[in-house]
Amino acid sequence: MKFFIDTANVREIQDAADLGLLDGVTTNPSLLAKEPGDPREILREITKIVDGPVSAEVTALDHDGMIAEAAELKKLGDNIVIKIPMTLEGLKALRTLSRQGIETNCTLIFNSAQALMAAKAGATYASPFVGRLDDISVDGMDLIEQCCTIYRNYGLATQVLVASIRGPIHVQRAAMLGAHVGTMPASVIAQLAKHPLTDIGLERFLADWEKVKNRS
Ligand code: E4P
Repeated sequence: MKFFIDTANVREIQDAADLGLLDGVTTNPSLLAKEPGDPREILREITKIVDGPVSAEVTALDHDGMIAEAAELKKLGDNIVIKIPMTLEGLKALRTLSRQGIETNCTLIFNSAQALMAAKAGATYASPFVGRLDDISVDGMDLIEQCCTIYRNYGLATQVLVASIRGPIHVQRAAMLGAHVGTMPASVIAQLAKHPLTDIGLERFLADWEKVKNRS
C-alpha cells in the first residue's frame, strides 16, 4: 500500500520524505488555509519535495470552472493531481480530464455508488473518507471493503485512496483489504512505527547491555 501524507505543511512533508517511505501528498483547501503564505506557492514547493503525486483541489463548482482551474494548477508542477469533488459537475470534469490524460483524485466519497461513479468517469484515485464516517457512527472501513470489492469485480483501474485516516488501525485494516493508498497526517505516520512492547523491549536490551558493556 502506498503512503501519502495528508497535509500542506512543507516541514511535515520534508520530514516524511526524509523517512524514505513517502509516496505522495494530498492537500485540500482547509489544509492549505492553515499554512501562512500563497497557497499556490506552497503547492509549487511541495511538488519539488516529492517525486510522487501531489493532489491539489479545485474550488470551482461547475465543469468549465473546474477544467480552467485544473489547467492553472497543472502549471505548478508536473506531479500535480487534480482533486475534484464528487458531484455531477465533478463527474463530467473527471471524464474531461481523463480524456486529456490528466491524473485526478475524486474527493469526498461517502458511499460505494459514488466510488463506482468516480471510477466509471475515469478518476485515477477515488478518496473515501473513513474518519468522517466513523464520526457519524458509520464504519468507514466497511466502505473501503466495498470499494475494493467493486473495483476488483469489474477490473476498474481507479485506485482506492483511503482518506480521513485517524489512526494506525485504519491503515492496518486498509492494507488488509488491499486498498491501493492511504493518506494520513504526520502524527499517524509517526504512530505507525510505535508499539509499547517495542519501547519496553528496547529499554531492557539497553539496560542489560549497560551491565556488561565494560566486561573484557
Ligand atoms: C483527503 O484527501 C482529505 O484531505 C483528508 O483525508 C480529510 O481528512 P479529515 O477528515 O481528517 O479532514
